[in-house]
Amino acid sequence: MTTTQDQTVAKIPKRVIWLAVAGAVGGFLFGFDSSVVNGAVDAIKEEFALSEAVTGFAVAVALLGCAAGAYLAGKVADRYGRIPAMKLGALLFLVSAFGTGFAFGVWDLIFWRLVGGLGIGLASVIAPAYISEISPRHVRGRLASLQQLAITTGIFAALLSDALFANFAGGADQNLWFGIEAWRWMFIAGAVPAVVYGWIAFTLPESPRFLVFKGKDEEALKVFESIAPDEDTDRHLRDIKKAIEEDKLAGQKGSLRGKALGLQPVVWIGIILSVLQQFVGINVIFYYSTTLWKAVGFQEKDSLTISVATAITNILVTLVAIALVDRIGRRPIMLAGSIGMAVSLATMAFAFGSATGSGDAITLPGAWGPAALVAANVFVISFGASWGPLVWVLLGEIFPSRIRARALGLAAAAQWIANFAITLSFPVMAAASLPLTYAMYALFAAASFFFVMFKVPETNGMALEHAETLFVPKGSAKK
Ligand code: BGC
Repeated sequence: MTTTQDQTVAKIPKRVIWLAVAGAVGGFLFGFDSSVVNGAVDAIKEEFALSEAVTGFAVAVALLGCAAGAYLAGKVADRYGRIPAMKLGALLFLVSAFGTGFAFGVWDLIFWRLVGGLGIGLASVIAPAYISEISPRHVRGRLASLQQLAITTGIFAALLSDALFANFAGGADQNLWFGIEAWRWMFIAGAVPAVVYGWIAFTLPESPRFLVFKGKDEEALKVFESIAPDEDTDRHLRDIKKAIEEDKLAGQKGSLRGKALGLQPVVWIGIILSVLQQFVGINVIFYYSTTLWKAVGFQEKDSLTISVATAITNILVTLVAIALVDRIGRRPIMLAGSIGMAVSLATMAFAFGSATGSGDAITLPGAWGPAALVAANVFVISFGASWGPLVWVLLGEIFPSRIRARALGLAAAAQWIANFAITLSFPVMAAASLPLTYAMYALFAAASFFFVMFKVPETNGMALEHAETLFVPKGSAKK
């Protein structure tokens, strides 16, 4: 099986690889723009004399923008197309880069961060939708995982460029070029990938599946011929049209609504996958790792080195997922990832259960320190090789064409809200009980195992058109 698949992989048209990479640039901006604030936050706090609460809000508010952006992306992409949504995203990234960089005060800064959040939310929906729709089924998993590779690379690039600006200037709050402080340059730097993304969007063809859905068969055929020249493109077109018909026959009205608590079951699957991906607490590791590392004896000044190491690990493990996803399938990887996350998070709960001291000054006695350190890394590795990339892959492929972008938009919006809830609640929960906080994440990781086990279908090698019948009750759709 591996050999056949390898042969298929060897045959991926270069053009398809290019389209997938180009589509994934949105993921890079997602990672970059969501992390760039880390290096700037202390300087912003000082410059505008902000309280802890307002600073926290200015940081977290972008996540609400992301939720709104994801929701909006679905609507724009289903109505006007995937490419117009990309162009809109690029524009939002661009204006937010300059707006935040030249902010006069905290309120316009918050406004520009919201605008940037809209862009991130848009990109988080368009990349998986577009990549899935242009990919041949046998390599769809790995091409769609490029989104996560781009996200993690974006996080790393933001960290690196923040560090470079701060070092050149001698501190994030110091003037760099043209009398503009380094922290402002950190945001302005985001204009570069934004322009690249916008330029790329003008060169990409519209998704052929969207074109068929809009009745533009001839245009769709042309795109299919350019991305899959060796295949029977007429058959592709027929399959897509048939699937749309089947979807209609099954009584799905192209709306997200259904009998299961107001939504179609597949939409719930997408939402729950998204929420679980956040409720295991991955972003706590990214946003608040310093406390953890200090507890095991690292100094505050080591925190950049540690963040860089975590970011690189996160990129590398994505490659593991890319190598495996189209060979062994989505479910085994997710199940293994859930086990790794549950065990490592439970270990962290036990380790912090034995901590002495309180607040920022806790220490972990004896072997618990190294155990927590290993556990935190196992957690990042388990997440990065499974739920990180695969939730985006699944969100790109489980929804029927007629609702794909809107359903993805809703699921991604739920993910951003869950991210916001975890980010905002962590400091409060950690102050109450760190072991209980990690135990809660461990429980969600365990729940994620059972959710995949019982509710998530295998989509490896599935024709995207088969998504129309994945969750249709037996007997109500023609096979
Ligand atoms: C998640 C992000 C997370 C990132 C970490 C992505 O799949 O959506 O919330 O920060 O993975 O690698």
